[in-house]
Amino acid sequence: MKKQKIVTEFEVYDSILELPRGIQTLMEEAKKARLKAYAPYSNFLVGAAILLKNDKIVTGSNQENSSYPSGLCAERTAIYAAGANYPKTIIKALAITAGPRNVINTTPVPPCGACRQAVAEYEQKQSEPIEVYFMAQEGKVCKVSSLLELLPLAFDKDFLK
Ligand code: THU
Repeated sequence: MKKQKIVTEFEVYDSILELPRGIQTLMEEAKKARLKAYAPYSNFLVGAAILLKNDKIVTGSNQENSSYPSGLCAERTAIYAAGANYPKTIIKALAITAGPRNVINTTPVPPCGACRQAVAEYEQKQSEPIEVYFMAQEGKVCKVSSLLELLPLAFDKDFLK
């Protein structure tokens, strides 16, 4: 038996103002997208903004459904829109902001497992890391320089061979 350890690394910024200018803009777009969420069941609003290598920004928000599992998270709404509309363009970064409709939280909200898996697919597809920034509505922002920091031992297409 051999024990193995996985170390994951992330950065914590005190506020959005500490981020590089382009990423501040990206997070502002995620905040705007959050306000467009359709979340009448959970009242938990999530916004995501994706920065492409051509400097375009693609946004998404969570879209719920009366048949609960049919809804989709903000991150996947955004990344699938990017994949569908810019299939050949490299994705540089993803910014996420999340929190309940009427309460301001400050604890950064990381993407769920299914969204991590979805973003990992695009990272592998483009062979370039995707930076992920996540926060609540206000306060600290966490950053990983690659999605895989959030999803060690990821399942990917190489296992299908
Ligand atoms: N949600 C997201 O949009 N992203 C996540 O990473 C976690 C959860 C949404 C799904 C649902 O509409 C609401 O937040 C409550 O789970």
